[in-house]
Amino acid sequence: MPTLLRLLRFTRSLSSYYVGITIAAVIVTGAGLAVPFITGAATDQVVSALNGDTAADTAIRSVVLLAVGLLAVSLVEAVIGNIGGYWGDVMSAKMRAILSSRYFDKLLRLPQRYYDRELTGTIVARLNRSITEVTNFMKSFSNTFVTLILTTVAVLVISAFYYWPLAILLACAYPAYLWLTTLTSKKWQVFEKDKNDHVDLASGRFSEVVGQMRVVKAFSREASELKNFDRHFDETVTLTGGQSRHWHVMDALRQGVLHAIFFTMYLIIFIRTVHGHFTPGEMVMLVQLMALARQPVTGLSWVVDMTQRASAGSRSYFEVMDLDEKMVDGGGSRPHAPAPSAPGAANVQTPAVAFRDVSFAYDDEDVLSDISFTVRHGERIAFVGESGGGKTTLTNLLLGFYGARTGSIEVEGAGDGSGSPEALALLREQIGVVFQDASLFSGNIAENIAYGRPDATREEIEEVATRAAVDTFVAKLGKGYDTVIGERGMKLSGGQKQRIAVARAMLKNAPILVLDEATSALDTKSERLVQQGLDQLMKDRTSLIIAHRLSTIAEVDRIVTLKDGRIDEIGTPAELAASGGIYAQLLALQASATKADRKKLKAFDVVPH
Ligand SMILES: Nc1ncnc2c1ncn2[C@@H]1O[C@H](COP(=O)(O)OP(=O)(O)OP(=O)(O)O)[C@@H](O)[C@H]1O
Ligand SMILES: [Mg+2]
Repeated sequence: MPTLLRLLRFTRSLSSYYVGITIAAVIVTGAGLAVPFITGAATDQVVSALNGDTAADTAIRSVVLLAVGLLAVSLVEAVIGNIGGYWGDVMSAKMRAILSSRYFDKLLRLPQRYYDRELTGTIVARLNRSITEVTNFMKSFSNTFVTLILTTVAVLVISAFYYWPLAILLACAYPAYLWLTTLTSKKWQVFEKDKNDHVDLASGRFSEVVGQMRVVKAFSREASELKNFDRHFDETVTLTGGQSRHWHVMDALRQGVLHAIFFTMYLIIFIRTVHGHFTPGEMVMLVQLMALARQPVTGLSWVVDMTQRASAGSRSYFEVMDLDEKMVDGGGSRPHAPAPSAPGAANVQTPAVAFRDVSFAYDDEDVLSDISFTVRHGERIAFVGESGGGKTTLTNLLLGFYGARTGSIEVEGAGDGSGSPEALALLREQIGVVFQDASLFSGNIAENIAYGRPDATREEIEEVATRAAVDTFVAKLGKGYDTVIGERGMKLSGGQKQRIAVARAMLKNAPILVLDEATSALDTKSERLVQQGLDQLMKDRTSLIIAHRLSTIAEVDRIVTLKDGRIDEIGTPAELAASGGIYAQLLALQASATKADRKKLKAFDVVPH
């Protein structure tokens, strides 16, 4: 319940709808409550005419008027009820939009570590379920619950006016029913949470499988993936069995109690009418009133069911909304955004990038230890090391995806940053990156190239595309740059995706360039083409390069070799070639053609050229 109240506060902008819907509900309830009174009055008229107390003409005039009244209130009920229903629909659609947008906004702000631990499909499933349940609840609430609740209160007051024991009995019926319901609810919620966990896990895996269908097919894992998926859903069936059995047993009990209470109330009404305390009209009215009262009581189980779902839904919604970005992130020092300055105004004396005694761990164990190096403006620096040695991690730290455990990273001489979203955005503006996996979006080629600069003109896009050798394959595509490339660029080859990623980084035109195996998937010919474009781009630009082709690395100003997460050597290619370190070994291995040496070379993720 508290989370539902929070939801109302959260969606304060919809308060005019809440008020409108409540007013409509009050009118509908009033109209509904008028019916027993009108039929009661009509009964009294009929009885008195039958007894000869009233002239037939007068009685007929009265009952016709009463019938017209009945028609009028029914029409009011129909019209206002539908207006309220319309508002309810619009309100719930708006609520859905608000909740979804804020959820997405929150997800966009959550740090990388959150995504390291959650499955995409699970995040999506959770969003859908919680928002659907919450908005369904609000819709039912506005369309039905308010009327139910108001009717309950009104019936209590009216029955108290006619005969207070009736009101007391009724007043007992509600809490007894509610008490029995809450008894059930705790256990019900536990079942529900377990069920949701299974559905979320299954959905997470489901979207992973759908996204990587080729792997599944290639390793013939269709059957086992299905089995795993089914296992989760079978669990939900089992859990639902227990949950529903529990619920229905308790419901039967509740209904039994309720029927006993109503039985007593009907007895009282009938017997008191026989004794002359109620007129037949009053009896008809009270019986109808009791029928009205019955509806909300039984409706309560539904209300409770929906409320529980909604509060479970809103709880998991707010669980994500309440995530403290700093806590999830785990802190650590982030590179600072350099003060924006005019191009070329950067102080050439300060290093463009400096790592100072940086240590970093994703989990417990350090992946990088005591990393220190500086990169001068316009310098090209390459990183060499074993696969898994922490090269990509270095770039992750530079981009501020994670905070360094100790030490600091400086960009343009600026010290530790606050890690605030604004500071990080400024930092990332300075860096153009080609990731190790090309990471494209669905949509067309032009959109993908312009991802970092959506306002780029078609000429600009085509210009970088030429430099990244994208044009060579685009020319063969029917729709050129408007060709749609499928989810994550599925319809393209690895090398084609990579070239688009290079073009995307080129178009960004940032002062620092990070190339993480930017040309690894290209054949020699295409690589040479792209490399020419990159060379042109890297001119006067600070570049951090991770490449597994030694020929690419040979062109750089300096090389940093990494060993066990530490820096082994730093020097020019010529220096390192002579030092006997990792780079020299790699060169020697490359020169040697023996099988064993080639094997060793592979361990370094290096291919001979
Ligand atoms: N998100 C992550 N969470 C936990 N550990 C990670 C994460 N990303 C990488 N690692 C671990 O950190 C280590 C360094 O990984 P990194 O990706 O930096 O290596 P790399 O040098 O780029 O390797 P490669 O040449 O294969 O790309 C690896 O042992 C890897 O398992
Ligand atoms: Mg890597």
